[in-house]
Amino acid sequence: MKKGLAILLILLLVCSGSLAEDAVTSATLKIDMLPAVEAADNGILVVYFSPGDTVRAAAYILAAALSADLFEIVPEEPYTTDDLNYYDRNARSMVETGDSTARPAIAELPEDLSRYDTILLGYPIWGGQAPKILYTFLENTDLSGKTIIPFCTSNSSGIGSSDTNLHALTDDSVLWQKGTRIKKGSTAEEITLLAQTLITE
Ligand SMILES: Cc1cc2nc3c(=O)[nH]c(=O)nc-3n(C[C@H](O)[C@H](O)[C@H](O)COP(=O)(O)O)c2cc1C
Repeated sequence: MKKGLAILLILLLVCSGSLAEDAVTSATLKIDMLPAVEAADNGILVVYFSPGDTVRAAAYILAAALSADLFEIVPEEPYTTDDLNYYDRNARSMVETGDSTARPAIAELPEDLSRYDTILLGYPIWGGQAPKILYTFLENTDLSGKTIIPFCTSNSSGIGSSDTNLHALTDDSVLWQKGTRIKKGSTAEEITLLAQTLITE
């Protein structure tokens, strides 16, 4: 009887362990820790918005691979778990996604981007598009003459029109590169390799 109980306990532990691991790796990237980023003042900045930390992980790895600076788009009003519940059409993120005029406020915009010529711009896909706070950022930041390289993370959607729909928010002097989706489950090694292709494209 004791032996049976022990086997049952071991089985329960094994099952709960693998479930927990799946839950982490299937919803996010395969990254345990954010890497240390040492910027090299090389004109590259990684700007990102990441209420759920997936884009943040990708942004840090890209910045570490490119020795770039990082800037986080922080909302004035942080998104709660309820705000991010996309099963609830009344959740804040869903309401904003459906409202073409929504422009959520940013806590602090970057003061001076003149030393950067290339900006990697990272965001999660919301309803197939970039979250409206990206629109706030682009409409309120002087990016003239810069190259912008969009990247996104998502559960399953591709980047779709989410990147090209951002083009109209900047002036004609901005050179937009084709955007990239970082697949769910990507590893740090894969994202590091991707970083080099983004810049040399
Ligand atoms: C409001 C909302 C809408 C979403 N819409 C989509 C979608 O259309 N397609 C998709 O694949 N994932 C969608 N997702 C999932 C996110 O794109 C995905 O979890 C992303 O990696 C989250 O990044 P973050 O952790 O940096 O916030 C949505 C998430 C939210 C909160």
